[in-house]
Amino acid sequence: MPRVELTGPGLLLRGWRDADAPAALDAFGDPAIALWNPQGEGLDLAAARRWVRRRADWSAGDHVCLAIADPDDPAALLGSVSLHRIHQGDASIGYWTVPAARGRGLASAAVSRLTAWAFADLGIERIELCHAVANVASCRVAQRAGYPAEGTLRQSHRYGDGRRHDEHLHARLATD
Ligand SMILES: CC(C)(COP(=O)(O)OP(=O)(O)OC[C@H]1O[C@@H](n2cnc3c(N)ncnc32)[C@H](O)[C@@H]1OP(=O)(O)O)[C@@H](O)C(=O)NCCC(=O)NCCS
Repeated sequence: MPRVELTGPGLLLRGWRDADAPAALDAFGDPAIALWNPQGEGLDLAAARRWVRRRADWSAGDHVCLAIADPDDPAALLGSVSLHRIHQGDASIGYWTVPAARGRGLASAAVSRLTAWAFADLGIERIELCHAVANVASCRVAQRAGYPAEGTLRQSHRYGDGRRHDEHLHARLATD
């Protein structure tokens, strides 16, 4: 799996670093991230460090995880964008941004940039993006990143509130 750093206007997608662990722990405490990207209860700094290290290690070949940062301040963590379940040309994409970085197009830009790289350089043919129907902001990110909706999955994932939620399935093809 090639190691990459991806850039765009006002955007840096870089590898995760041990030093990101405290900021990642802070992010997991945000109510929206705890609801829509739950990492499990009672996470402490040691667990956050293990989480960061799993994301920094791409050797299994089934995931590509990048931290979202500002090119002018690469050390500050602004979010996360990841390809998971990479297998035979398929992948899933997931993301979050820290509260202070929201509402300025960062998640949409990060998803678009990682998607373009995955199609061009990783040989991926289809990427799926799922979000809870109630997560309207994530639906907008999918639309802005060019992922058309393909349907509604019923009670398909248990989120941080402990409840199963219906989800929208969006996907992009390399040939779109
Ligand atoms: C969803 C999330 C990633 C969006 O991040 P962001 O950097 O603010 O995203 P962008 O700025 O690229 O785009 C946000 C879009 O959502 C819209 N939006 C933001 N908050 C919203 C809300 N509460 N309700 C409706 N739309 C909302 C914005 O207006 C924008 O849409 P627009 O282009 O039509 O104006 C961020 O809110 C987040 O991390 N949420 C918690 C975790 C999460 O939901 N992760 C995704 C799991 S599938």
